[in-house]
Amino acid sequence: MSNLLVTGGAGFIGANFVHYWLRQHPADRVVVLDALTYAGNRANLAALEGQSNFAFVTGSITDAALVEELLRRERLDTIVHFAAESHVDRSIHGPDAFIQTNIVGTHTLLTCARKVWMLEGAMPQHRFHHVSTDEVYGSLGPHDPAFTESTAYAPNSPYSASKAASDHLVRAYHHTYGLQVTTSNCSNNYGPFHFPEKLIPLMIVNILRGQALPVYGDGRNIRDWLYVTDHCRGIEAILTRGRVGHVYNIGGGVECENILLVRSLCRIADETFARDPDLCARYPQSLAAQGKSSASLIQYVTDRPGHDRRYAIDCQKIRAELGYEATVTLEAGLRMTFDWYVNNSAWWQSVMDGSYRSWIKQNYSA
Ligand code: NAD
Ligand code: TYD
Repeated sequence: MSNLLVTGGAGFIGANFVHYWLRQHPADRVVVLDALTYAGNRANLAALEGQSNFAFVTGSITDAALVEELLRRERLDTIVHFAAESHVDRSIHGPDAFIQTNIVGTHTLLTCARKVWMLEGAMPQHRFHHVSTDEVYGSLGPHDPAFTESTAYAPNSPYSASKAASDHLVRAYHHTYGLQVTTSNCSNNYGPFHFPEKLIPLMIVNILRGQALPVYGDGRNIRDWLYVTDHCRGIEAILTRGRVGHVYNIGGGVECENILLVRSLCRIADETFARDPDLCARYPQSLAAQGKSSASLIQYVTDRPGHDRRYAIDCQKIRAELGYEATVTLEAGLRMTFDWYVNNSAWWQSVMDGSYRSWIKQNYSA
């Protein structure tokens, strides 16, 4: 039995992880700590409210007094650290929050964990799992081998640089102080609860609303896509069987050019609408409802500055050591994700209101 602190548990991957973990480990207890920024949504965890093995605390990972108190009071022995500013485009427009949360926040968590678990002796057996990204390794050329755990760090955006800094701090707390840490560097995730400023959910909601599908640059940038539940399974494998002090890459082994991914989503939309006339009444603005091709919404737009060309993950270590394999194919995952957004319009309409709209206006209307 474990008592977990899940930071950022109201966000996309964190919420999926909390649901996954309590399904797989119902005897464990999960305390979520989340600052509920624009990307955090307590409603993502609504189904768990009231359960005795779940608690939600609104607060920041930069609040050392709060983190220490939670570690002591809840007798937490495991931290799974998702909390972060996570969107590359936002980091280009305003990097400060990324430094504060991703670097200072991670360092605050590390100092609190060391103080309570080690210096106060509360938890000799403990685990600090740090959730990071493949973007710390930089950008690959078309024929470069995929990222391994020993690829040199070369972050290119303020987001990836802040995550790289946090990875180094986690590593240093193990080597210097003996804190029992693991780190995972994962490729691009997609699935339910994904905030619709990222590629896949944005394209889906724009297909449903009949709005333009903005593809950056020539659309030929490559990402390695992983369905979010497969990421959760990878973290579970590391928490339960991984070696302390080690880093594991997690990926789907599915490289796809952005433009091909967007065309796949358009095809899935057209096929789904053709099969289900009810959807045409629910989403009359979509081109698919009007019998037209969703792909005609695609628009090439100005590229992101410093846009990384290609990411690809070599999963050999986690496969060989922990027997981990991704299980959801890209086609199946995109279909499940499309269906989730079709059936949860109230969710995406509410998160796209308010602060999200003001941010878009403030940063893109100049
Ligand atoms: P997200 O933006 O959807 O969620 C981040 C969560 O952190 C939100 O709930 C937000 O409220 C919370 N948060 C932000 N600042 C906080 C603070 N100071 N204190 C407490 N909570 C705070 O992000 P996500 O896509 O779910 O990513 C989660 C983690 O996984 C991040 O660390 C990210 O770097 C990493 N990651 C993401 C991907 C991906 O494809 N999305 C891939 C690899 C790794
Ligand atoms: P994103 O979902 O922001 O993830 P990341 O930048 O962390 O990989 O973007 C995925 C890819 O899609 C990336 O190459 C940028 C591109 N992209 C677009 O072409 N249009 C968009 O509107 C967005 C948000 C992203």
